[in-house]
Amino acid sequence: MTAISKRALLGTGLAALATPALAQSNYPSRPITMVVPFAAGGPTDTVARLVAEAMGRELGQSVVVENVGGAGGTLGAARVAQARPDGYTLLLHHIGMATIPTLYRRLPYDAVNGFETIGLITAVPMTLVAKKNFPANTLQEAIALIRRERENLNYANAGIGAASHLCGLLLMSQVDAAMTTVPFRGTGPAMQELLAGRVDLMCDQTTNTTEQIRAGEIKVFAVTTPERVPALPNVPTAAEAGLPGLEVTIWHGLYAPKGTPRPVIDRVGQALRAALKDPKVVQRFADLGTTPVPEAQATPEFHRQFWQAEIARWRPLIQAAGQYAD
Ligand code: MLT
Repeated sequence: MTAISKRALLGTGLAALATPALAQSNYPSRPITMVVPFAAGGPTDTVARLVAEAMGRELGQSVVVENVGGAGGTLGAARVAQARPDGYTLLLHHIGMATIPTLYRRLPYDAVNGFETIGLITAVPMTLVAKKNFPANTLQEAIALIRRERENLNYANAGIGAASHLCGLLLMSQVDAAMTTVPFRGTGPAMQELLAGRVDLMCDQTTNTTEQIRAGEIKVFAVTTPERVPALPNVPTAAEAGLPGLEVTIWHGLYAPKGTPRPVIDRVGQALRAALKDPKVVQRFADLGTTPVPEAQATPEFHRQFWQAEIARWRPLIQAAGQYAD
């Protein structure tokens, strides 16, 4: 639509017709909110702040991260599902978007159809970590201790549906021993308790554990990926350490409320794909054990089909465990 016709439309009182098109063509005309459904300082927050800063430069408007933690990431997801579909409220979430539809049976939003997909972002390995003085030095020693101490041990996570919950579900089912779970609003706060020795174990993403592992502030037993992580070359995979069933990689994606106009989705997607090529983002991701997804995966169509497949993959696993959030 040309500037003249916009003015004409506005002048003839047909502003209502021009407004959506005008808003879309001027998008973004003000700062954008990127909701992170976990507390600040955790792995999701780390990914979000790197991507938000780079997207802001590309869009010419600030992309402001807002942490809305709680209920395993569903409070933040609800906030976005219920927001105006105008492109000014986005959600950066992870694999939880694939498990929440099965784990939560009563939600105040549509966990699948309440969102437009924009693109995938990154896939992050997890690490099984323990407090510094945990009395085990290998995965097998840790498994033996978990089987012996069971509910006497505290396992930290970020609520049902969080990546740390999923990894814990896999771990405890593999070793057939349930520890006491201590939920936090994110694994950022949980890490503080692990560093203080007030919880015993956690399974968290390398974006939150790599620097603490390197500093010797926490113990690490394994990574949950098929291959070792270049940023942690001396850490064995769970399969190498004798627990091949402990395999989970935490993918992240960007979403907008259902009904967000496609031209806005495309503009945000363009900025996301540029951010994933930003040298600062690529380097920081590498330092923290991950890499951006290939450009073809940072698209609404690939993201949507991948997400649907992940929902189908996790549903039977969760149903077999019989653990639901509500
Ligand atoms: C976080 O960002 O706090 C984590 O992703 C929470 C989790 O999923 O374990």
